[in-house]
Amino acid sequence: MLDQYDTFKPVMWDDEAVCLLDQRLLPGQHQYMYCRSVAEVAQAIRDMVVRGAPAIGITAAYGVALAARQRYAESATHWRDNLETDLQQLVEARPTAINLFWAIERMRRKLDTIESDPFSPLLEEARSIHEEDIAANLKMGEFGASLIAPGESVLTHCNAGALATGGHGTALGVIRSAYAGGKLGAVYADETRPWLQGARLTAWELLQDHIPVTLVAEGAAAWLMRQGKVQWVIVGSDRIVANGDVANKIGTYSLAVLARQHGVKFMVAAPTSTIDMAVGEGGAIPIEQRDPAELLSCGGQRVAAEGAGAWNPVFDVTPAQLVDAIVTERGIIEQPNTEKMARHMGEHR
Ligand code: MRU
Repeated sequence: MLDQYDTFKPVMWDDEAVCLLDQRLLPGQHQYMYCRSVAEVAQAIRDMVVRGAPAIGITAAYGVALAARQRYAESATHWRDNLETDLQQLVEARPTAINLFWAIERMRRKLDTIESDPFSPLLEEARSIHEEDIAANLKMGEFGASLIAPGESVLTHCNAGALATGGHGTALGVIRSAYAGGKLGAVYADETRPWLQGARLTAWELLQDHIPVTLVAEGAAAWLMRQGKVQWVIVGSDRIVANGDVANKIGTYSLAVLARQHGVKFMVAAPTSTIDMAVGEGGAIPIEQRDPAELLSCGGQRVAAEGAGAWNPVFDVTPAQLVDAIVTERGIIEQPNTEKMARHMGEHR
């Protein structure tokens, strides 16, 4: 199944290691980093070798298998004793994407059922998480594409594609499916400062699939909408909470405000593993702050005036009121609110 939907693989298991396509080097270089210890996996997540909420979760799941194998090699009787320290390294790697914690929790539940050598059952569980994510994306792609009328054009932000997931992508999964159905007009991608996920990753990924893409500077979004060039903004998410508020890459909230002003519809595509029903509203989502240096430089070259400081939150929260549709592998939630979210997640309130 994995081979069928990937022209490239952001995350792979390779006997001894988790192999990560180093997304810091794309599109110029296609290099894999081999992580052989849980510390290396946590570092790779922190440094954004791998990024995107579902891909981070999948990587961490393989990281748990690696950690347990190491601990079991050290002691077949006391292997559980220090495993929690390993899991904690993964938990602390990045704070906003709930998929990271979701995947680690699922691996913990698997661990609770294991009595002997933990490696094979944990690897199998990590593989299931990986494959289920691809299957979810394919379903989401179809649901999302069903909302797009023939000829409608879209703007996407950051990279919510195969690179950010197990394969196919969430927002880019919808775009891929709509394009395959022959109904999509143009695809615009925000460059997405400061990491340029749009310019470097989304553009590269879409071009691998021969889907034409036009880049815009973030500041051009209002004017793009004003010109009537897009009918949808489609994004992924790092965490959707119980009232339907959506955390995603910084700049997403601006796009939602602009979309409402211009009558452009706003779609969020994310698997249910991105939904955190334990958090009531968006204000309680931890927002990652990264090194100001990321903002002061571009491509390793300082661009800001010497002495200038920088504020670098890398996610923001879009209030549910600005969202027209949340699409998951279970279906579509139009105009999300607390009741609809609970119903979708099978919770009775
Ligand atoms: O900082 P990043 O690159 O990990 O941020 C990624 C995003 O914001 C994505 O839009 C989100 O994780 C959804 S990926 C399917």
